[in-house]
Amino acid sequence: MQNNDDKLILKQTQAATSFQYKYLLIRFFPFLKPFLGRAILNFAVSIPAGLLDAVTAFAIQPYMDKVINAPASPQRDLYAILIPFAIIAFAILQGSIKYLNVYLTNWTMKKVTNYVQKKAYEKLLTLNTRFYDVNSSGSIIARFLTDPLISASTILDQLKTILTTGIGSIALICVLLYNSWKLALVGVVVMSAAIIPAALLRKRILKTSNAQLAVTGDMSTNYFETCGGNKTITAYNLKNRQYRIFDKQIEEMFDLHMSLTKRVALASPTVFFIASIGFAVVLWYGNHLILTGDMTIGKFASFLAALIMLYKPMKNLGDTLTAIQQFFVSLSRVFELFDLETEIKDDANAIEINGIKETITFENVNFEYVKDFPIIKDFNLTVKKGETIAIVGNSGGGKTTVVNLIPRFYDVKSGSIKIDGVDIRKFSQNSLRSIMSIVFQDNFIFAGTIKENILMGKPNATKEELDFVIKGAHLDEFLETLPNGIDTIVGERGTSLSGGQRQRVAIARAMIRKSDIVILDEATSALDNESEAIVQKAIDNLMKDKTVFVIAHRLSTIQNADRIAVINEGKLVELGTHDELMQIDNGEYKHLYEMQFKQQEQNSFVK
Ligand SMILES: Nc1ncnc2c1ncn2[C@@H]1O[C@H](COP(=O)(O)OP(=O)(O)O)[C@@H](O)[C@H]1O
Ligand SMILES: [Mg+2]
Repeated sequence: MQNNDDKLILKQTQAATSFQYKYLLIRFFPFLKPFLGRAILNFAVSIPAGLLDAVTAFAIQPYMDKVINAPASPQRDLYAILIPFAIIAFAILQGSIKYLNVYLTNWTMKKVTNYVQKKAYEKLLTLNTRFYDVNSSGSIIARFLTDPLISASTILDQLKTILTTGIGSIALICVLLYNSWKLALVGVVVMSAAIIPAALLRKRILKTSNAQLAVTGDMSTNYFETCGGNKTITAYNLKNRQYRIFDKQIEEMFDLHMSLTKRVALASPTVFFIASIGFAVVLWYGNHLILTGDMTIGKFASFLAALIMLYKPMKNLGDTLTAIQQFFVSLSRVFELFDLETEIKDDANAIEINGIKETITFENVNFEYVKDFPIIKDFNLTVKKGETIAIVGNSGGGKTTVVNLIPRFYDVKSGSIKIDGVDIRKFSQNSLRSIMSIVFQDNFIFAGTIKENILMGKPNATKEELDFVIKGAHLDEFLETLPNGIDTIVGERGTSLSGGQRQRVAIARAMIRKSDIVILDEATSALDNESEAIVQKAIDNLMKDKTVFVIAHRLSTIQNADRIAVINEGKLVELGTHDELMQIDNGEYKHLYEMQFKQQEQNSFVK
């Protein structure tokens, strides 16, 4: 491990690429590509959808000049009927096209969003243990759930809006030009000034959006803590403390929201003000053009209608630009995530391992979590197939860390761990992990049934295998007491099970794998004496004929081990059988034995 924590921490500051629009769009394109056909169709449909507004505005001119302002004639009567009908027909056409447009937009939007989210989740599953050490659950959720959602869903909607209104605006401007190019020049020049406020807001929007997303992450963390830590919160009267944290976050959200609103809201009246100047000038100048005979009343009415229609997209432009800025913020955050580097990856020529033949060796292993704070120091150990090694030592000495290196939860900093002489980094991670079963102090039980949880160890296990491990894990009697037996649903994290029952389900899950290596990290230390006794029996069954690393606090387990490794401050300080280690004067093991284990021995005599 080269201490690449920097590459694993989700930054709370703005992603470096937020402003690199071209770079972001190029990277975004592959996500759009599979749905490009429909996306293009959608954009194609957006063009007539935008054009049709202009048709209505345009129709006013002939209606005014050829119907209202014209002398009676058969042609006049024909126009009088035809033009309103044409407007209705166009409205129906426009409605159908808009419907298609909305459908296609949502379809593509959802598809692209799903694609980005699937990729993000895939990434989440490949990130190694260290990633979960250094990032809070809330910031992970915000980054994996909210950002992909914002980024992918806004952009298509906004692109569609830009295209429809853009095309629409151009068409409306054509109507303006058709009716009077002089007046159009005045109107368009003044209206264009309306873009300025939106452009000025760009940076502020970027900063605020990012800050809002960061606070969203903190708030999620707080929610998770409330769910997971509810007992501790109740027991230690932390309700006020938790509330204050939440209160602070939500107020911060309010401030961010308002700081943006203050500016964004200012944009709208500014646009309105600029537009009203445009209208005033157009009215004054239009009147002048009519008086000089440069323009008909019909043309003027048509011109005004187009100008009024043009005002709406101008006004919406601000919102569109805000949304697009947010899109770029989220997109840059998503790519930052995709760029996180997983140090623990399969070698290009990874080989499959399907069991252990002779030995597992630790050769000069060094490991650190944080740069320059070595945790495991020059660790050497050879374990033979079928051997049981008990690992003991003071708390914080590095026992868990040592065993976590075997399934590559973390990689060694230097030195190597070898199975039958081959560095474990040469094996595919899946095959490496499939030859070991691990039982922790606290095992994760997934929401679902007990059966489902056990079968996670081996999804294609037979009924016989299942029955065998249920007996072996001493679950049979317990399951008989349940109305739904093995099909009983256990809550999220297995909340409806007792500690001992949870451990036995986990042991059954480990046992069904029939893997060569078994790793037990204080699997019984969270239990009371009674559950411990039965869980220990289950563990004894799990350990049979396996190569076992067992971190235990129970004397009998340790005494039954073939050898005992004593770890102190990350170093292997003693190695041998119980009797051998007891011979060492002032030895660490002897000391531990006298401090801790002897007490147990006496207790068990009393029983
Ligand atoms: N994820 C982690 N990140 C940083 N330091 C850690 C992490 N896990 C454990 N440590 C540190 O490594 C040392 C060894 O811990 P551990 O292997 O859990 O000890 P043991 O299992 O013997 O009690 C301790 O000092 C602990 O604080
Ligand atoms: Mg430990």
